[in-house]
Amino acid sequence: MRPLGLDVSLGILAGVPRPVAVADAAQLPLASASVDGALALHMLYHVEDIPAAIKELARVVKPGGVVIASTNSARDKAELDHLWERSAGDVLGVDKGPARISLSARFSLEQAPELLAAEFGKVETIELPGTIAVRSPEPVIAHMASYRAWAGQHAVPFEETVERAREIVSEHIERKGAFEIGCLGGLLVCTG
Ligand SMILES: C[S@@+](CC[C@H](N)C(=O)[O-])C[C@H]1O[C@@H](n2cnc3c(N)ncnc32)[C@H](O)[C@@H]1O
Repeated sequence: MRPLGLDVSLGILAGVPRPVAVADAAQLPLASASVDGALALHMLYHVEDIPAAIKELARVVKPGGVVIASTNSARDKAELDHLWERSAGDVLGVDKGPARISLSARFSLEQAPELLAAEFGKVETIELPGTIAVRSPEPVIAHMASYRAWAGQHAVPFEETVERAREIVSEHIERKGAFEIGCLGGLLVCTG
């Protein structure tokens, strides 16, 4: 098997073994029925026209081939959603602050089978659950740094909210020994 790496961003392809090509998932530079299989891992939720990209994946795969997509459940890392809403709420003086951005919500593990079924006869979901146990607030705070641009758009005071989150997580770890985050991702195996 000879893998080919595709991404819309040239920078992402820098460290990927050759051959690679810059390509938009909604317009793949491949002939119809030309590949044995395709992987679309944690990326379809970024694509502007998701149905068009799914159509392209179905087009380029040979009959009998397989497409495997992956994404997150809407319930993935819910503890971080609650932490952000509580911290922002405390800072803003309201019950609950605005929900943090969820990139995968456009193609969640719950919605994906229906979207993929438009092009594939069989779509099997394989759930991949896990737990992250954090024993210091630092990894949570480092993760929250990625909310900065989004928080500004929603008038959430970023630094204060992150500091409040640090207090909440530290108190939680002191009481329970760890702050646990439930993860739920999954694979969608598409054939037919
Ligand atoms: C979360 S990363 C996942 C990367 C990789 N598949 C992995 O599992 O590590 C999402 C990737 O999708 C790419 N992407 C976003 N929109 C795209 C599009 N329309 N066509 C192709 N790639 C796209 C981004 O450049 C980024 O590299």
